[in-house]
Amino acid sequence: MTDRYAVIGNPIAHSKSPALHAAFARQCGQDIRYEAILGPLDGFRASVEAFRQAGGRGMNVTVPFKEEAFRLATRLSDRAARAGAVNTLLFADAEIVGDNTDGAGLVRDITINLGCALAGKRILLLGAGGASRGVIAPLLAEQPAALAIANRTAVKAETLAAQFADIAPVEGGDFGRYAGRNFDVVINATSASLSGQSLPLPAGLFASGALAYDMMYGKGETPFLQLAREQGAGRCADGLGMLVEQAAEAFFVWRGVRPVTGRVLADLRAKLAA
Ligand code: ATR
Repeated sequence: MTDRYAVIGNPIAHSKSPALHAAFARQCGQDIRYEAILGPLDGFRASVEAFRQAGGRGMNVTVPFKEEAFRLATRLSDRAARAGAVNTLLFADAEIVGDNTDGAGLVRDITINLGCALAGKRILLLGAGGASRGVIAPLLAEQPAALAIANRTAVKAETLAAQFADIAPVEGGDFGRYAGRNFDVVINATSASLSGQSLPLPAGLFASGALAYDMMYGKGETPFLQLAREQGAGRCADGLGMLVEQAAEAFFVWRGVRPVTGRVLADLRAKLAA
């Protein structure tokens, strides 16, 4: 029997996950069906339960349900527990296992697709919300020289940084705190561009050859990457690769097979540009 999977979110119509997982399944010779489910804002739990009862094997979870999925899971992977959010559910007998593949997706995109090792680098993470929290432990696992968090609301960055102090020292503060310093990798995990606002980046933030990485993506250059380029970032990358890699990691969690992502990412990039 064909194993069923789905992505649940609200909105969901423009999700790229069904196309990504169909491509992975074809490539890996896996017999799966993957659909998109619009979760009612007050009916996430019921939708998941209905899919599970219908024989579903797992789900991807996207905005705005990742924290609710975290609470719904009966068991959490270490990385989901650290992230405080779940983007991948695995139904195993009576258990609902919650995992989070976002951080692994980001790290794979930077280190493998972009060929930029993070070990020994100075990383600045912009934003202190859920997107930021989800990637901190996987970034620290790469053993950077330093990890700092900049946020509009300083106290949120300080609080978030303190939550990872048992792994490694993490610094937090507002954007102004980093004036006069520079970093090798600057990652945008804020939602500022959704509201068309630009970030108050202090001048000189990008070290020579620094990578600017935006977890967002869009048809053209994102506002953060435009600003980064103007401020002298050596290299710019948007979050399309992270999107593909977090999906591949979820596929691996479910099926035990890791898809090769290069061609899938190139096809998606071409479609986005069309
Ligand atoms: P997500 O789950 O996408 O991380 P979130 O938890 O609402 O969403 O967090 C949004 C992040 O983007 C926060 O770090 C927020 O800063 P504040 O904590 O100060 O609110 C940041 N953000 C949103 N709009 C911003 C803007 N116009 N300028 C700077 N930071 C912004």
